[in-house]
Amino acid sequence: MPPGSDIFDQDPLPLLVLNFEEQGIDETDLPLVAYGDMLFDSPQIFGNPARNLGIACSTCHNRSDVNQRLFIPGASHQPGAIDVDGAFFNPIFNDRRDDPIDIPSLRGLRFTGPYGRDGRFASLRDFSRNVIVNEFGGAEPTPLMLDALVGYMLEFDFLPNSKLNADGTLSEANPDAAHRGEAIFNRPFAGLGDRSCASCHVPDANFLDRQAHDIGSVSPAYSGARAGALDTPSLLGTAYTAPYFHDGSLSTLAAVVEWFDETKSLGLSETERTELTAYLETVGSADEPYEKFDAENTAFRLTFAELATFASTLDTLLPRRDAEHILLLTDTVAADLAADASTMSNLTARPEVYALAERLAAVGDAVRDDDWGAAEASWTAFKTEADAIEERAF
Ligand code: HEC
Ligand code: HEC
Repeated sequence: MPPGSDIFDQDPLPLLVLNFEEQGIDETDLPLVAYGDMLFDSPQIFGNPARNLGIACSTCHNRSDVNQRLFIPGASHQPGAIDVDGAFFNPIFNDRRDDPIDIPSLRGLRFTGPYGRDGRFASLRDFSRNVIVNEFGGAEPTPLMLDALVGYMLEFDFLPNSKLNADGTLSEANPDAAHRGEAIFNRPFAGLGDRSCASCHVPDANFLDRQAHDIGSVSPAYSGARAGALDTPSLLGTAYTAPYFHDGSLSTLAAVVEWFDETKSLGLSETERTELTAYLETVGSADEPYEKFDAENTAFRLTFAELATFASTLDTLLPRRDAEHILLLTDTVAADLAADASTMSNLTARPEVYALAERLAAVGDAVRDDDWGAAEASWTAFKTEADAIEERAF
């Protein structure tokens, strides 16, 4: 890793909102989704150097949101941005352009296609394959891997925001300034081609229109170049995803308002700018943006429950004798489990978690030896021990 790099998760940790959980469905009952969740956390699907550095989808798209801290000198121009088609991860995919892009949030992904900031991929499956094979030099993913990853990511939801009604209008209880900002948001401006902000950021369609527009935020590579069109991004959750625009060039929502006012000659007064900003901050806010930790829900326990869920897909994979996907799972989860143990506050329980990681590694070893009886036995032992640890560990 180049000196000065930071690939670690954020603190506070973004809250992950999954559609099936809101409907009361347990992830262990959705093996394909749980497997996709595991892949989203697995550096094993990438080639080197990403794999050796322990980089996974979740490193950048932390809990479906943005890792605002991510920084790799030479590949990032500022925290939260990365050049995913440069030489750093895969020389053969190098586009020879130094063009780091601010990491987008993946919240509400099933409503935000097409994919890529310029919308160049209609299909999430094609986009994901491109990420694995071209951007990060991984081996060709199997159809099951792509189905699983896509199935998982389509469950990402926006953060609930009770300041908005179901149709995206502001609820009554908001301050007057925000309501006046909403009116400005819906006002047509000559500088926007007689459109309003709401023409593109459509309030009852998650504040986007699934179209690409050149709003002049990309400096053209040459005079007359047409490469500046970008998908309208959602404004939901944006209170927590600064900086803004594809290149992260604007550090606050107030700066975005100022940018539109100046470049599109909107002619807003100082008060109107403040009101429009108050509106954006309200739309972009959430009832609970971050994971809340306490004595019960510790960082260790959260990860432990996640890893146990990933492992639960063995109940489906072992009877199918699916060696390839089992090994991908055991290689990923055994390593993560051992790493998770190091975050435990309960030091005396640590050795038990290390032993549990070895149980899972033993499932993999047995599968490599084609000894399915031993694999099943280690998996059964894992489940019993994991249940016991879950009760006591923190
Ligand atoms: C090193 C950081 C990094 C990693 C690792 C990473 N991404 Fe991304 N991701 C980005 C950046 C930057 C963009 C914006 C790129 C663009 O628009 O061309 C992006 C864009 C996306 C988008 C498009 C979102 C949208 O709204 O258009 C999806 C989907 C996505 N990534 C999924 C994944 C998946 C799946 C993985 C793992 C297989 C992954 N990413 C790994 C940084 C990363
Ligand atoms: C013609 C369609 C269009 C109109 C009209 C429009 N936007 Fe946007 N908006 C976009 C696009 C495209 C981007 C992405 C720009 C980029 O990434 O460089 C964007 C980006 C933004 C962002 C940053 C989001 C992020 O996460 O980076 C905010 C905030 C925003 N617009 C607010 C507004 C406001 C306020 C108005 C009215 C003054 C407005 N927009 C009018 C299309 C539009």
